[in-house]
Amino acid sequence: MYNLIDSGEGRKLEQFGPYIIDRPASQAVWPKRLPHLTWKQADARLVREGEGSRWEWNRLPENFEMTFQGIKFGLRATDFGHLGVFPEHGQLWEWAKEKLSPGTTLLNLFAYSGGMTLAAAKVGAQVCHLDASKGMVSWARENAAINHLEKAPIRWIIDDVTKFLRREITRGRRYDAIILDPPTFGRGAQGELFKIEEDVVPLLQLCKELLSEKPLFVVLSCHTPGFTPLVLSHLLQEVIGCQKIENGELFLPGELPLPSGCYARGLFR
Ligand SMILES: C[S@@+](CC[C@H](N)C(=O)[O-])C[C@H]1O[C@@H](n2cnc3c(N)ncnc32)[C@H](O)[C@@H]1O
Repeated sequence: MYNLIDSGEGRKLEQFGPYIIDRPASQAVWPKRLPHLTWKQADARLVREGEGSRWEWNRLPENFEMTFQGIKFGLRATDFGHLGVFPEHGQLWEWAKEKLSPGTTLLNLFAYSGGMTLAAAKVGAQVCHLDASKGMVSWARENAAINHLEKAPIRWIIDDVTKFLRREITRGRRYDAIILDPPTFGRGAQGELFKIEEDVVPLLQLCKELLSEKPLFVVLSCHTPGFTPLVLSHLLQEVIGCQKIENGELFLPGELPLPSGCYARGLFR
């Protein structure tokens, strides 16, 4: 299970399975609710250092597992400070599961450790999972295996998003649903630079060309400051041509949910 135990003073205290982790959270500008003693019980603590971060202490085992929304995740404390799951996306997985059905085709871009891919595979969707990082794609495949989904119809792709989408268009492939969670700044498989401000519109134009004749939905989410729910909605409306759009904030679930990005989802039926 996952739970946001407390947040405040620029930090968040989270429970990942049996372990408690204290990490930076710049959006948590309010006072902490729980006493110092509770925070001190964390098994690992991440501190900011220059542009990056480092584990100040880490009593976590090298690998451990957590079940979140019915999906098992293999977790580990990475040098980048992430654990292998972004629980704020859980609400989108649940929503997508209700819309998808056996045989529906889903393109999952910037797919990371596979939360959305595995949620969709569980309801029988055919998924194309793309990430530029070889390490992340093998991590997602390990997650598929521990969920007994290694034989599910999932195409695992390690590629730069733009290059892959152009090739898919040429190949004539089409998808009923597309989910994309672009980073503010990222690198493709061959070091190609991705900057959300410059690249999100061309990316959505490519996505539009990849939609099937009777598409289901496009979901756009991100964690970039300034990309509010309305900004994401306008992108879906103006670039993809979505008419029916829902939007909102992503948040880490707990007693005091912590805002962690925004989403917009355009529905076609
Ligand atoms: C913040 S994560 C996405 C989180 C994910 N959507 C989830 O549900 O947990 C961003 C991912 O984008 C990938 N990425 C960054 N730049 C990329 C690019 N140019 N092409 C493909 N993937 C890229 C990274 O390897 C990383 O796994």
